[in-house]
Amino acid sequence: MSTQKPLELIESFTRSHELRKRSHAIIPGGAHTYAKGDDQYPQLSPGFIVRGKGCHVWDLDGNEYIEYGMGLRSVTLGHAYDSVVDAAYRQMVLGINFVRPAAIEVECAEKLQSLIDSAEMVKFAKNGSDVTTAAVKLARAYTGRDLVAVCADHPFFSVDDWFIGTTAMSAGIPEAVRRMTVKFHYNDIDSVRNLFTAYPGQIACLVMEAETSTPPQEGFLSGVQRLCQEQGVVFILDEIITGFRWDLKGAQHIYGIKPDLSTFGKAMGNGFAISALVGRKDIMEIGGLKHDRQRVFLLSTTFGAETHALGASLETMRIYETEDVVSHLHRQGRRLAEGLTQAALANGVQDYFGVSGRNCNLVYYTKDQDGNRSQSFRALFLQETIRRGLLMPSLVVSYSHSDADIERTIEAISDALVVYRKALEDGVERYLVGSPVAPVFRPFVEPWRPL
Ligand SMILES: Cc1ncc(COP(=O)(O)O)c(C=O)c1O
Repeated sequence: MSTQKPLELIESFTRSHELRKRSHAIIPGGAHTYAKGDDQYPQLSPGFIVRGKGCHVWDLDGNEYIEYGMGLRSVTLGHAYDSVVDAAYRQMVLGINFVRPAAIEVECAEKLQSLIDSAEMVKFAKNGSDVTTAAVKLARAYTGRDLVAVCADHPFFSVDDWFIGTTAMSAGIPEAVRRMTVKFHYNDIDSVRNLFTAYPGQIACLVMEAETSTPPQEGFLSGVQRLCQEQGVVFILDEIITGFRWDLKGAQHIYGIKPDLSTFGKAMGNGFAISALVGRKDIMEIGGLKHDRQRVFLLSTTFGAETHALGASLETMRIYETEDVVSHLHRQGRRLAEGLTQAALANGVQDYFGVSGRNCNLVYYTKDQDGNRSQSFRALFLQETIRRGLLMPSLVVSYSHSDADIERTIEAISDALVVYRKALEDGVERYLVGSPVAPVFRPFVEPWRPL
């Protein structure tokens, strides 16, 4: 049960501010994940979270929030979800890492295989980047080609050089590596065809998500699949976000496509570190022992299949199967989107603030008085929603977001949009305390940004 009082403004971050100084002194950027960093949040914000339950979290100063980021979309059921925590704990007391594989590795692989139609074989790891990179490596070995085609309109595939080399933060990545990744555009089948024509017989794989905030046009995804087949290019579908959120069987099921390889992570373990590469047996097997080709070093790490993460994943998948979690995510997302759209209209800011994306994975945009996307207005919106007990870098709902949480959220956002309206009229600098936020991928830190 929430202990929040109605719309009482949160303004005390004293302990967070103190710990920020220590964290920046020891951790580059003050956080271990860029998307959680201080440049992503306004000055008046909680610097650190100490606990969470369901969709509620508490910061270091004891302030409570309803959260809409959910562990960067990994926590689909809710924070500290009892039966998942119990399942992980049951494995922990049996020991988590042995000298030979744990039996649960096979059980969990079989469960995942039973859910994902294209999963003929399965290999686990601890994060999405490693499995997506492993898919790329497998594709290169399988095809004997070097180039990787990525969707230019999708924001993230991996922390590894083949992808980060394509971003605005490519420092440290050799030019030779950067040249090996080429780009096509989403919903633009000609851009895929042109790429394959420009680099005949050189592209090993094509990497994309089925959908981010724009839905696929009729025939686009199947067209990509067909072109890949025709050109001998391995079709890799990144389901790190869409897996278990779009549908129990992945976005590939909804859109009727069959990738050669696909990658899952985030929602697989309700926040526990587990990810998976799945796909065609003839490709996956070259990372194994039953072939006479040159061997591929495919995902082998000390912590690759810790038993507690597998236990958590098995329980999480069991809940997805038995409780129709996905419908809840879509339903609550829709209520939120409708409520926010009405609130924007009621406050006359509908041309400056809005919601986009699939209901299970919504984001919002913020524009200034000239109609341009604005990081200052994003910071203001974050500031005013944080004040009102919401922590919402995105509008990502979980199974724990109740009707009451959604109603409370809409009420708080309506109130925050009053300030947004005033800022459009009087200037955002009159209302925003401190610096604007900034996108992660930028080549330099702004000279004025205080640490
Ligand atoms: C679509 C997509 N693919 C891959 C990744 C990488 O996953 P991880 O952060 O677990 O390495 C992310 C992370 O945000 C992602 O959003």
